[in-house]
Amino acid sequence: MHRRLAGGLSRTLCSSVGKRLFSTRTPLAKHKLCMIPGPIEFHEDVLAAMSTPATSHVDPDFLPVFGEAIEMTREVVRTDKGQPFLVAGSGTLGWDMMSNVLEEGDSTLMVNTGYFGDRFAESLETYGANVHHVKASIGSRPSTKDIEAALVEHKGYKMVAITHVDTSTGVLNDIQALAQVIRQRSPESLIVVDGVCAVGSEELAFDDWGIDIVITASQKGLGVPPGLSVVVASQRALDVFKKRSSRIRNYYGNWNKWLPVMEAYEARSALYFATPPVQLLYALNVSLKQILANGPTGLSERIDAHRKASGQVKAAVQGLGLKLVPTSLEGAANGMTAVYTPPSIKTPDLIEAMAKKGVQIAGGLPIKAEPYFRIGHMGISVVEPERKHIQHVIESLHSSLNELNYRS
Ligand SMILES: Cc1ncc(COP(=O)(O)O)c(C=O)c1O
Repeated sequence: MHRRLAGGLSRTLCSSVGKRLFSTRTPLAKHKLCMIPGPIEFHEDVLAAMSTPATSHVDPDFLPVFGEAIEMTREVVRTDKGQPFLVAGSGTLGWDMMSNVLEEGDSTLMVNTGYFGDRFAESLETYGANVHHVKASIGSRPSTKDIEAALVEHKGYKMVAITHVDTSTGVLNDIQALAQVIRQRSPESLIVVDGVCAVGSEELAFDDWGIDIVITASQKGLGVPPGLSVVVASQRALDVFKKRSSRIRNYYGNWNKWLPVMEAYEARSALYFATPPVQLLYALNVSLKQILANGPTGLSERIDAHRKASGQVKAAVQGLGLKLVPTSLEGAANGMTAVYTPPSIKTPDLIEAMAKKGVQIAGGLPIKAEPYFRIGHMGISVVEPERKHIQHVIESLHSSLNELNYRS
């Protein structure tokens, strides 16, 4: 039997594979609630899918699992013809894959809102790119005018790279507005979005906004344990890759190796370059089916749920007299919240107090900012409010601060 999904794809749900994936609900082992900006809390059915017994990566049962995951990835980023690459690795592998479209000496503009912008640039420089940065002060984001000025000042950027949400600052870039300016001022530039902390939790319309590449990973808004690099490339980006004149200085991340593999699995056949992470792909298949269960409406409801939960967390921390790292709410991520730690409290003490209450939050990353901490609110923690994760994190923060004698 097949179920017709909103994207028009017919997916096998009642094969032996489908039945098992959708009927299992093993309760989670007792653990600290993982409220960091990735890895996030994982759905029981996603984790159950990971315990698929040893399965050959060329087994006929596995082919649709991988093939459907490729098709559903397209739907999640909202593209018809973009080419997904699902490869064992972490989000960082997506940065390295930019070596497929960049050649020695190519210039790139980095819209930099924190630590991950710096590291993305470092990766591009490893492959010979000349990276220019447009930075804003910690917590704020460059304006469209700043980007326009940078594109007028220096012509011929091969790529403009933007971190959708920089997980170090919790700053959200307005990709739609930035892409519009880039398209007008520098139509040849490839628009590359680091969506590692955004895909699945922030609004993204790959085709409509004219994005060329989106990079993400499994462990955040996609709700799957870490270990999968997810990259989607437009046909324009693939043309740039195909027409390059120099050799690609990357072996594992080389699209010449991966493109035929992705095409094969999408056609429900197998092709080997390097062993795919079979169990993670089972998990991704389940998670993407959950994300897309109600088609495009479900997807936009999901983004709204992230906005709502984010509003609750941000209002609660501000209500406690704490200051957000992002300087404006419209420039703040919906999947995470970065907050300055009150001067009278040490961040590690706060993290420990929260951990004792069963909630894991994260400290800050090495950026030039006063001490701060981060709370993640993505995936099942926000789309299944009956789990009460948001309530739990807010209450634990409140009582931990009290215990540490915080006075606003
Ligand atoms: C925005 C952003 N980009 C890239 C990365 C790197 O991803 P990974 O740690 O999966 O390699 C991260 C990790 O948190 C991130 O938040």
